[in-house]
Amino acid sequence: MTNLSLDNFEVELQKRINNQLNSYLNSNNQIQEAIKFALSAPGKRVRPTLIYLVGDLYNVALEDLDSLALAAEIIHTYSLVHDDLPCMDDDDLRRGQPTLHKKYSEATAVLAGDAMQSLAIQIILDDHKLSDELKVSIVKLLMEKIGYEGMILGQALDISFEQESANKDEIIQMNYLKTGLLIEFCILAPLMIAKQSEKEWTGIARNIGIAFQLIDDLLDLEESEESLGKATNKDHSKNKKNLPLLVGPSETMNEIKKFQHETLESLSKLSLNNHPFKFYVENLFNRRN
Ligand code: IPE
Ligand code: IPE
Ligand code: MG
Ligand code: MG
Ligand code: MG
Repeated sequence: MTNLSLDNFEVELQKRINNQLNSYLNSNNQIQEAIKFALSAPGKRVRPTLIYLVGDLYNVALEDLDSLALAAEIIHTYSLVHDDLPCMDDDDLRRGQPTLHKKYSEATAVLAGDAMQSLAIQIILDDHKLSDELKVSIVKLLMEKIGYEGMILGQALDISFEQESANKDEIIQMNYLKTGLLIEFCILAPLMIAKQSEKEWTGIARNIGIAFQLIDDLLDLEESEESLGKATNKDHSKNKKNLPLLVGPSETMNEIKKFQHETLESLSKLSLNNHPFKFYVENLFNRRN
């Protein structure tokens, strides 16, 4: 069923993705150096971990998921680099180190982010283990999730809500777009490789993605800069619209619990036995960093 042990799958997968990233990181020019700086910082690697776990559930070899895992982490990291820019959230600290525009320059951060997008696509297209047909389908799905009707629209709404009011439904939709869709990709794309139907998975993927952002917003209020590796209490001061700021932390926690309950109920209908995926998702709902 699985090649991963319940005891140490997280460490094993983190090691795998970090080794994969290292093999792509060079310092031959200023842009490569900036990309290396952003990608070698200690992120939680949630998106590649989801990719490996979903693929593993359906017996896809981890080697056949490497390019997808790399691409997802690189796209996510690019989104953080741009998210931190002075014209966006204007943050100085990311993953416990200076943000890219602080370390280098704004121009370098914009350009490194741009280059990370093309690098991610290139890595999928260069993967000889995937058929051409599969590569086209995967890249198409990724572009839909992160493009102008996806993650970028979510980021645009996040910024425009700083000047406007937003209700609960609008906030949840913005969360789904800016954060949920890339996470959804990380669950649906390995299903494509495994030739499995996504039918039972779309609701699960959506819930996990939205809840991930709700928890991020809650942690901004409740956790310390040291434990998150980024500034905290920043959303209120920037007039961000998010659920904890609209309805309070305990009502947000109730909302997260609803997403968690629905997700675990749907997962229990799929015969996952004791696969690490289930444990990982449970831990994601209870994360404190
Ligand atoms: C932070 O993502 C930004 C969001 C989309 C909520 P993560 O919490 O996954 O950040 P890293 O990758 O561990 O730094
Ligand atoms: C980031 O959301 C979403 C994307 C990068 C797409 P946040 O702005 O809440 O993430 P943090 O708190 O800066 O990590
Ligand atoms: Mg933001
Ligand atoms: Mg931000
Ligand atoms: Mg945040």
